[in-house]
Amino acid sequence: EKIVVGVDIGGTAIKVGICSMEGELLHTFEGPTEVEKGSDVVCDNIAKYAKQIVEESPFTWEQVEGVGIGIAGFLDIANGIVKQSVNLFFDNVPLKAILEEKLSKRVLVNNDANVAALGEAWAGAGRGINDCVCYTLGTGVGGGVIINGKIVEGFAGMAGELGHMVTVPDLEAIQCNCGQMGCLETVSSATGIIRMAKDAVARGDRTSLTFVEDIMAKDVIDAAKAGDEVAARIVTRAAFYLGKSLGTMAVVLNPQRFIIGGGVSKAGEFLFEQIREAFKKSAPAMAQEGVEIVPAILGNDAGVVGAAGLIIRS
Ligand code: BGC
Ligand code: NA
Ligand code: ZN
Repeated sequence: EKIVVGVDIGGTAIKVGICSMEGELLHTFEGPTEVEKGSDVVCDNIAKYAKQIVEESPFTWEQVEGVGIGIAGFLDIANGIVKQSVNLFFDNVPLKAILEEKLSKRVLVNNDANVAALGEAWAGAGRGINDCVCYTLGTGVGGGVIINGKIVEGFAGMAGELGHMVTVPDLEAIQCNCGQMGCLETVSSATGIIRMAKDAVARGDRTSLTFVEDIMAKDVIDAAKAGDEVAARIVTRAAFYLGKSLGTMAVVLNPQRFIIGGGVSKAGEFLFEQIREAFKKSAPAMAQEGVEIVPAILGNDAGVVGAAGLIIRS
């Protein structure tokens, strides 16, 4: 019996999972990423956790068919090189080669959001559907485009970076981590929502949001739900630009389903209603017919399941 190890590398934790060849998640384990110690240590940790989860399971390392990895950032997917990952401080790290050496198994590396999209398409909210576009709203805005059941990677591996679609008009645009002005990520990520809340408080807007130091996106969303107008405007802005980018994706790809996940999506119907409303104004009716906008369902597991899927489905 063969198994696959899926790895989801986040800024604070590395999550590893053992999947059956059918994509059933059998075991999971999480350990610290230790980004502050540099990419060599992060790579050591990935190898360590992958071996450890198998050792502590009923399976043996011989049964491992391969190791799939999802990581945030701009990647040369074909060669498994992390070209630039701002949150992880990775700069041209040949992740695939390093881990194939350490693990003596086939390793496939892909973008974190691409992998989450594959997980959702395979075993989550996109089950049974060939074409879907997924967004993950977290620290950044991640994207994953699945067409004919496969991740669209682009010629150099940069496709699906939906958070870096320039959507905010010049006069309101601020600079993104990627260097561009007005990326979707600057307004529709948790980080963007927090920034807008801090700005509002600093400007002296009348709002219940005063506890600015360790404010979380959830606090802003909760305040919006409770009727705080300033918070509501911030959430509406996040939803508006997201819905607008969905409209763009709809005319380009005509996906059957948009799947929205990540921490911010936990805001639920309150947010989804506003995304749908913005979407309606952002693409011709024909391009919207039958198109659904739904929440992701795998939650935190999408990454490891999709990472395992890289190996199983290729
Ligand atoms: C990065 C993407 C990543 C996303 C979610 C963005 O800032 O550019 O590569 O998928 O954040 O982690
Ligand atoms: Na992506
Ligand atoms: Zn950007």
